[in-house]
Amino acid sequence: MAARFLLPALALAGSAVAATCSGTTTITNQAQATQLSSCQQWTGDIVIAGSAAGEIDLNGLQRIDGSLIAKNIGKLTTFTADSLSTISDTFQMIDVTALTTLTFPSLVAVDTINWQGLSSLQGLQFTQSVQKATNVQIVNTQLSSLDGIDLNEAAILILADNTFLNSVNMKLTNVTNALGFANNGPQLEISLPNLKAANNVAFRNVSSVSIPSLSQVTGSLGFYSSYFTTLSAANLSTVAMTLAVVGNPHLTSASFPLLTAVGGGVQIANNTALTNVDGFKKLSKVFGAVDMFGTFTSVALPALNYVKGAFYLLSSGDLGNSCTRFDSLHSSSAIRGSYECQGGQAGASTKGGSDGNSTSGGSSSSSSSGHSGATSLIIPYTTGFIGVVAAIFGML
Ligand SMILES: *[C@@H]1O[C@H](CO)[C@@H](O)[C@H](O)[C@H]1NC(C)=O
Ligand SMILES: *[C@@H]1O[C@H](CO)[C@@H](O)[C@H](O)[C@H]1NC(C)=O
Ligand SMILES: *[C@@H]1O[C@H](CO)[C@@H](O)[C@H](O)[C@H]1NC(C)=O
Ligand SMILES: *[C@@H]1O[C@H](CO)[C@@H](O)[C@H](O)[C@H]1NC(C)=O
Ligand SMILES: *[C@@H]1O[C@H](CO)[C@@H](O)[C@H](O)[C@H]1NC(C)=O
Repeated sequence: MAARFLLPALALAGSAVAATCSGTTTITNQAQATQLSSCQQWTGDIVIAGSAAGEIDLNGLQRIDGSLIAKNIGKLTTFTADSLSTISDTFQMIDVTALTTLTFPSLVAVDTINWQGLSSLQGLQFTQSVQKATNVQIVNTQLSSLDGIDLNEAAILILADNTFLNSVNMKLTNVTNALGFANNGPQLEISLPNLKAANNVAFRNVSSVSIPSLSQVTGSLGFYSSYFTTLSAANLSTVAMTLAVVGNPHLTSASFPLLTAVGGGVQIANNTALTNVDGFKKLSKVFGAVDMFGTFTSVALPALNYVKGAFYLLSSGDLGNSCTRFDSLHSSSAIRGSYECQGGQAGASTKGGSDGNSTSGGSSSSSSSGHSGATSLIIPYTTGFIGVVAAIFGML
């Protein structure tokens, strides 16, 4: 009697083994990777061991409901997954220092890409391109382009310390939390032709920025330590927190023709070639402070009719009659906070923005809201990531 039940029970057990494509598994070598190839879908995390060397090929796997993790690996040179289209959680690679070839031709969707310290990786073989990712941070790689990652929208996109990265061109329309670039290739040209809305945005050390469609920034927007001569945000109408243009030594022209309101401060400082500020023709309301320090000889904010915080316009140059209008805005209390408008101030030309000794007493309420905006970045990663984000957004 018992024997009659034995066979189906064994068969069941056998199929259950074949179907056990779940749990956390650690892969040390190709033989273990090949064992996964009977699974089209893996539920759980797949971890590549620190001792993995040469090539690991996750052949056959189509979907990971979990994370794919490779950390502190010195000898892995090639990482391949021909059929893998989706990683539902995180694709994390940290300090995989010998990796030169990353071949994921089918990958289109990942929740989070967190790559740091891929110090030999120069390109991606992502034939179909990742189209969907919520959070992407790529830090300290040798990537020269992001061909293979082309997102429509993201919550976070951070690119930092990729010192060969000289071009970023994405169809992104919307970045809901943070968009930041810092210390990539010195020739980095950023083109985001479709970007309409973004939250916190910081461009540092870039060579050009093209954001012709950007219409609304719901957090802060900053351009720092960059190499461009002209800066334009042709369609930008509002910035909800602070707008900063700081430390761009070659900048001669800043154009924000449709900008009408800034919810935090306006900081234009230490752009030593920017003598003429005439690109803010519609800016009427600033709910924080205005801090302008530089070599200006002419500053016109013809539509300005309300500044909730302080107003400082200090120049090493002769401001001509630029102060006349601001003096009267101050007299009529349209400028609510402390006020100073002066040319011939030798120290003004290289005075920093918010990073320095801020004179923006009047903007304390709005600058603190600016900071709460930045610190509200929800970043469930390593402290390394938080450090990078903090540096990019000036939180520390
Ligand atoms: C951006 O995305 C957020 C969240 O998905 C959405 O609420 C908002 O309407 C989007 N804005 C634009 C301009 O697409
Ligand atoms: C990059 O930008 C940061 C922050 O704005 C600045 O401190 C640093 O000096 C810049 N680096 C270069 C090489 O310009
Ligand atoms: C500029 O922004 C408006 C919304 O404010 C939008 O309708 C228009 O398409 C944008 N123009 C460009 C070139 O993106
Ligand atoms: C002003 O900018 C220069 C380079 O653009 C930088 O070296 C310097 O540190 C900046 N000064 C302040 C006070 O931020
Ligand atoms: C900062 O600014 C305040 C007010 O203008 C001034 O009294 C103070 O000396 C400044 N501190 C530094 C370190 O420049």
